[in-house]
Amino acid sequence: MVLSLIVVVDENNGIGINGTQPAYIRDDLKRFKELTVGNTIVMGRKTFQALPKGALPNRRNVVLTRQQHFIADKCEIIHSPDELYNLCAPEEKVFVIGGGDIYRLFLSKANYIYLTLIHYRFEEIDTWFPKISEELWRIEIREGPFTDVKSGFSYSYINYIRR
Ligand SMILES: NC(=O)c1ccc[n+]([C@@H]2O[C@H](COP(=O)([O-])OP(=O)(O)OC[C@H]3O[C@@H](n4cnc5c(N)ncnc54)[C@H](OP(=O)(O)O)[C@@H]3O)[C@@H](O)[C@H]2O)c1
Repeated sequence: MVLSLIVVVDENNGIGINGTQPAYIRDDLKRFKELTVGNTIVMGRKTFQALPKGALPNRRNVVLTRQQHFIADKCEIIHSPDELYNLCAPEEKVFVIGGGDIYRLFLSKANYIYLTLIHYRFEEIDTWFPKISEELWRIEIREGPFTDVKSGFSYSYINYIRR
């Protein structure tokens, strides 16, 4: 499989506050959809349970949990990161969509990182993305900064590829 991490971070690598994301940017959500539709998404049980309408449509949804009897509508459940490799075909595009635990589990295995950087430092962050090592990753494309009209936040897209 081709494994990518897709994430929104702030200037401190912050990704979560009290079970939710620090900010939602309209064009970024559109981009998330364009990248992931038709492909596979993998998420932690907590991120799954925070989705307002459950499994995301038109994607293969995979949820990672340690709970042996956990079930979720329109989702496949796995209990260890390694199970993903048995589940997915060699050419399958798989996007790890969070949260913090799950990014940490898959960073060393990923081929790409699609990072949206919000140029802001949020207070109250309680979940972080792991540090991206410059020795292991190089920036393939950097776009922006753009401004989100609704929130006023400035943000950039940074695509990393493993060296
Ligand atoms: N900014 C972004 O792009 C972004 C994206 C997604 C999420 N987030 C934010 O991230 C936060 C949630 O992150 P989180 O780290 O608290 O939770 P999470 O990664 O979404 O889920 C954690 C859960 O995954 C399961 N898990 C973790 N490691 C496992 C392993 N080795 N084997 C099997 N199952 C495992 C456990 O589920 P069980 O407890 O059921 O065993 C654990 O409680 C929220 O604030 C959310 O809004 C941000």
